Amino acid sequence: MTQRPAAVVVLAAGEGTRMKSSTPKVLHELAGRTLVGHAVAAAQSLEPDHLTVVVGHGRDQVAAHIADVAPTVTTAVQEEQLGTGHAVQCALETLPELTGVVVVTYGDVPLLSTDTLRALIEQHLADGNGATVLTAELDDPSGYGRIVRGDDGAVHGIVEHKDADDATLRINEINSGIYAFDAEVLRAGLSRLTTDNAQGELYLTDVLGFARGDGRRVGALVTDDVWQTEGVNDRVQLAALHRELNRRITTRWMRAGVTIVDPATTWIDVTVTLGRDVTVRPGVQLHGATSIGEGAQIGPDSTLRDTTVGPGAEVVRTHAIGAEIGARATVGPFSYLRAGTRLGEKGKIGGFVETKKAEIGEGSKVPHLSYVGDATIGDGVNIGAGTIVANYDGVDKHQTTIGDHTFVGSDSVLVAPVELADGSYVAAGSTVTSRTEPGELAVARARQRNIPGWVERKRPGTATDEAARRANARQTKDDARVEGSDQ
Ligand code: UD1
Ligand code: CA
Repeated sequence: MTQRPAAVVVLAAGEGTRMKSSTPKVLHELAGRTLVGHAVAAAQSLEPDHLTVVVGHGRDQVAAHIADVAPTVTTAVQEEQLGTGHAVQCALETLPELTGVVVVTYGDVPLLSTDTLRALIEQHLADGNGATVLTAELDDPSGYGRIVRGDDGAVHGIVEHKDADDATLRINEINSGIYAFDAEVLRAGLSRLTTDNAQGELYLTDVLGFARGDGRRVGALVTDDVWQTEGVNDRVQLAALHRELNRRITTRWMRAGVTIVDPATTWIDVTVTLGRDVTVRPGVQLHGATSIGEGAQIGPDSTLRDTTVGPGAEVVRTHAIGAEIGARATVGPFSYLRAGTRLGEKGKIGGFVETKKAEIGEGSKVPHLSYVGDATIGDGVNIGAGTIVANYDGVDKHQTTIGDHTFVGSDSVLVAPVELADGSYVAAGSTVTSRTEPGELAVARARQRNIPGWVERKRPGTATDEAARRANARQTKDDARVEGSDQ
């Protein structure tokens, strides 16, 4: 086990102007978490004694978000963005005097993994370093701080692009901005920073040079997984990192026994769980706290958020939010399941059906063209095509209860509040406003009346009239034949 760090400091005070957004950069999302949410999650897995996020631009929004998703994480305010070194100073001011390892990461580097941070800490401790930096070798290192090494390969320091001479600019090993420091080395280095550089900022990178100057070892962990060091500066990078993160997520699930027919069109949040032998067809998005049971089949073309799907269920072309779909149930195509939908085992919600706060019992079916809201439906119920549960009277919502093995005929309206007893029937086309007792048939519609000769009188000469005449003529002939054969 890796030693737990004394603190992780996540820098997230920068403005992110290139996002061109009224939302602070680190609150933009990918794969079910904000940028800073990913950074915090990776840090939390290290179980540091202290985890603090340095906030500046949009601090109220960012701090509120962190309080929401990670209540144990603290924030430190950096009023003015005077540089990365200054940001870490602001964080340390809010913490008690630390001993041990202090890790620094960025709030806009979402793919950095806990494993990489662990490897960084392990190397830092194993080599007895005062500071260890995560680096990568890039074909195009422009913009980044360069890692300057001595002839023996030891890290001498970091030089920012804007401060670099031509020889230094040719170095392609870059500073990721992610470090493990010995707390004392960090404190001592920060206290010596100056703004004597091209940008007039307090550079955190200078701490490494001071450490070496003081005779401490400075190390580097070179990663060949460059994605893990990449930050988001604009929305093009956000999309690229999202695609790569999604590739990693889908790959992990396929290795865990999930069939993903088309990973490129399947988007899965980091917070989703899938069982063995699940099949995910093309065009599926699984978000939030969604969990899919063993052997279930999802898609094509479905979006599920915070939805639980039971083992062996089948969900086709469906939009579901906050729903629970029972084992071996079937949903879709073209179904809209809203919050509070609970479909029982082997139940069915079929085509063009919308449900909300609807508990639908075991084996019960709402197969075609219905709205079911604020309703409790028992087991073995059949809701006929086109049935509407009218839950809203224009002011309030009301509850409907439908008992076990009830049969509701097609095109009925159940006007809430209303209760259908176990084992009752509703005749097709009824508008039901009062309760039924067990075994009753409710018929709530006008009796049919046929008016003979209406078409001939009111629509003479039309195709309908002609069809009626032909049918009547055939009927007369048939009747004559029947009479003939009777004799
Ligand atoms: C910094 C490093 C550079 C490295 C690069 C990697 C320094 C001096 N330079 O560059 O060597 O290659 O990161 O991306 O450290 N931030 C604050 N407060 C500040 C300044 C920055 O919180 O006052 C945060 C930003 O929100 C961002 C991170 O620190 O998350 C890095 O800031 P940025 O300006 O992008 O880094 P550079 O200084 O360009
Ligand atoms: Ca940057």
